[in-house]
Amino acid sequence: MFVTMIKRNFVINGTLKFVTFEEGDTLADLLRRLGLRSVKIGCNAGQCGSCSVLVDGDVVRSCIKKAKDIKEHSAIETLEGMGTAKALHPLQQAFITYGAVQCGFCTPGFLMSAKALLQANPNPTRQEVREWFNKHRNICRCTGYKPIVDSVMAAAAVMRGEASMEDITYHYEEGADIYGTSHPRPGSLAKVLGVCDYGEDFAAQMSDEALHLAVVQAKVHHANILGIEYNEAENMPGVVKVITAADVKGSNILRIIPPLGSPHYYSDGLDHPIICDKKIFRYGDVVAVVAAHTRKQARMAAEKVKVIYEELPAYLTFMEAAAKDAIRVHEQSPNVYIEQPLFKGGDTREIFKTSEYSAEGSFSTTRQPHLPIEPDTAQAYWGEDGVMMIHCKSQNLYGNIAALADSIGLSKGKIRLVQNTVGGSFGYSMSAQMPALVAVCAMATDKPVSLTLSYPEHQHYTGKRSASYTNARLACDKDGKITALEFHMGIDHGAYSDASTTLTTKTIRFLGYPYNVPNIRGLSQMCFSNGNFGIAFRAFGSPQAYMASESLIDMLAAEAGIDPFEFRYINAAREGDLSPNSMSYRNYPMREMLDLMRPYYKQWKEEAKRKNTADKKYGVGVSFGGYHVGKSHDSAEVALELNEDGSVSHYNTWEEMGQGADIGTLAHTYRCLRELNLRPEQIHLVQNDTGTCPNTGSASSSRSHHMAGWATKIAADKLLDAMRKPDGSFRSYSEMIREGIPTKYFGKYESPSDVGHIDKNTGHGFDSVGQNFILNLAEVEVDVKTGKAKVLRYRIVSDIGIVGNRLAVTGQALGGMSHCVGFALTENYEDMKRHGTMAGAGIPSINDIPDDAEVVFNETPREYGPQNSTGCSESYQSCGHVAVLNAIYDATGVRIYTLPAAPEKIKEAMNALNRGEAVRQERWDLGCDMFERLNHFEAKATAEKLK
Ligand code: FES
Ligand code: FES
Repeated sequence: MFVTMIKRNFVINGTLKFVTFEEGDTLADLLRRLGLRSVKIGCNAGQCGSCSVLVDGDVVRSCIKKAKDIKEHSAIETLEGMGTAKALHPLQQAFITYGAVQCGFCTPGFLMSAKALLQANPNPTRQEVREWFNKHRNICRCTGYKPIVDSVMAAAAVMRGEASMEDITYHYEEGADIYGTSHPRPGSLAKVLGVCDYGEDFAAQMSDEALHLAVVQAKVHHANILGIEYNEAENMPGVVKVITAADVKGSNILRIIPPLGSPHYYSDGLDHPIICDKKIFRYGDVVAVVAAHTRKQARMAAEKVKVIYEELPAYLTFMEAAAKDAIRVHEQSPNVYIEQPLFKGGDTREIFKTSEYSAEGSFSTTRQPHLPIEPDTAQAYWGEDGVMMIHCKSQNLYGNIAALADSIGLSKGKIRLVQNTVGGSFGYSMSAQMPALVAVCAMATDKPVSLTLSYPEHQHYTGKRSASYTNARLACDKDGKITALEFHMGIDHGAYSDASTTLTTKTIRFLGYPYNVPNIRGLSQMCFSNGNFGIAFRAFGSPQAYMASESLIDMLAAEAGIDPFEFRYINAAREGDLSPNSMSYRNYPMREMLDLMRPYYKQWKEEAKRKNTADKKYGVGVSFGGYHVGKSHDSAEVALELNEDGSVSHYNTWEEMGQGADIGTLAHTYRCLRELNLRPEQIHLVQNDTGTCPNTGSASSSRSHHMAGWATKIAADKLLDAMRKPDGSFRSYSEMIREGIPTKYFGKYESPSDVGHIDKNTGHGFDSVGQNFILNLAEVEVDVKTGKAKVLRYRIVSDIGIVGNRLAVTGQALGGMSHCVGFALTENYEDMKRHGTMAGAGIPSINDIPDDAEVVFNETPREYGPQNSTGCSESYQSCGHVAVLNAIYDATGVRIYTLPAAPEKIKEAMNALNRGEAVRQERWDLGCDMFERLNHFEAKATAEKLK
């Protein structure tokens, strides 16, 4: 093929360079080829700003700017030209100090955009900063934006000469404890410099032998595969091989092992193919992969692969899949394949009859997309000793090895997983599908391979939050004391059973949490459907539960004529009250938390009332919840090694997802080794390579801070004991060597044996190592003409024990808030075209997220937790969406039962209300009578007790 090249002279980061590029190349293509890899490709469609650079001082999204459209001698600036490690630009320093960096994938784009802003306006207001980022489409999925604005304001003050670099630099106080401080993340320096390598950056360093992969994905929801024609593709230039299921050397089925203590499970867990051969189970399934010398060649050939289908009925909701006449999605399993009942107290049917007030509703939640800015990417190659090396975004490194070994046809010992720097995941990369896919391609070609999905490919390939449909009712007595709760939840877990059992038991823990609900009858059922498969997502299982229960709390309060905030106070669990699973809560800070929030609530309520106009309505909503930390039969291992120079290396696989595994590891290690008087920089982190680090378990269930924290304590105690001399001083490295004392110690922590399971017949039990509690307050404004709701203010009172690092935890809180707002108002994955892009799927931009947001910590020490702390991350995403919905109700009088609360939905409900019509969601037909199923499980429980 004839190729025309264009030559230009550009001044790149201050140096005149001549460059050449193809006519169709974007500026991002060119810059990345020049090695300027701070230019990050997220959406590749002008929607996220991660590729932002400056051209003659203007912000340009380089993924949509053709290089040929940049005029000769233009000055192009990328993050590589901003500052150095020894001489940071004030913006870079501020981003580190104020916690603007989590995964860091958006960071280069924000920094370049902010630089242009401060050149144009050295003294912006906070809102002007927000407007600027909004105009330039800078999107961050991690931080909730506020820390980014804080950073820009702080840097601007330095640049105006009103503050010094010293003022905006965190100073470690010699000898002081760093646990519980705002000590910055060790990983943030590389991220603000733009030198941190993510998967696609690592791929660019692979040898010339490396092949590029492109996927062929199904464009139908459910079909039999009659044939795959790929001759034409295989004969195209540069194509080395078209890989199909026939090339997979193992079983081709990911092994999803239901954990111990599962609910009733009627499947074998062997349902998730790496490459589909006989059947398509969902839109986006991979049917073939093209391996070629260049990405362009692979992508062009992938378009020529033809899949011949016989379409089957597509079930895209629980109700469709659970219908009596539905065919099976997986031959070996009924569509409704998991059931978990919950019994607490007496028969609720009788109690409802005698209760003074009751409220009832049918609620649904969407298949919320995770929407990281970085699409999925992975690389694989044969390494030394015949080991298959897989570089990926996994947050479950050792767990993924177990899941993919049989499926790719290698023993676990022959697989090594390395975590690339991750540009966001929020749970989807718990699945082993991407590591498995690249591994089978490397094995089929015997070449190094790399696969980076386009954003739409990523959207359709990776799992989503499971959709849910819940019928529920709640009753109370004349004083507002809750008497009974009933719920029947249908969870649409999509095509595959990944993490399905854990999810089912999670849902029955949080309806009624953290209150005293004396009598409950509930049932969670999970189905296969042809939707995208359900996978972990921060707060896994709880947002579906709170959607029903925290809505009902407000609805019942209204029935009883009690303020919803005070209704929560009346019902918040007190010492001795039992959780929905008939266990003691591990702590009872609920009323203290409400007392801390009350002044905000009262003030905001009064202000909202005053602000109301004919065009804009204002309202305030509350939600109360939290999450569980860890699980039973869990373990985590880390290692600490004394180095020759007196420093210590910490080895673990606490996966770094942007949540702060680096600062968590550092803070725990620093605290545990206080006696050695190490400075923070004397603690080296060696993380996330299964070839060199022990199994610390997955970054899930909010478990890592807790589990890795205890493991660190155990390893540290061993190391200190080994170093301690009889006089109490410590041996040096050379003394240890001289005396033949080992310098490396492992610490393994196992969750306590009294942490039981959730009983599959009754729902009783704990199945976690800790608990946390979150109280949210949201103020919204609703535009009466359009129905558009906007969150104006947000407060969080949280109790997660002693806070390990204030910067990281605040970051999780504000990031969780932004996901809650998105979940409530905009995010969805239903329409395969519209929701295939980041913007189309409803990712919130900076003006969608309130700047007036704050976290208040109520720190009840956790006796069971390391350093009296416990995990936190997921709690902040558990129930905030319902605070937003409750605020919409407070503002307008309309209740939204089905997410997202899109403007047209709110508008329609307001119109109906104005016409005097009842606004209510029809009861979901979940395919069975709940009490019939509960009778069945009650009988089972009795029979098992008699045995
Ligand atoms: Fe360029 Fe998203 S705007 S990658
Ligand atoms: Fe902004 Fe992760 S830090 S997307």
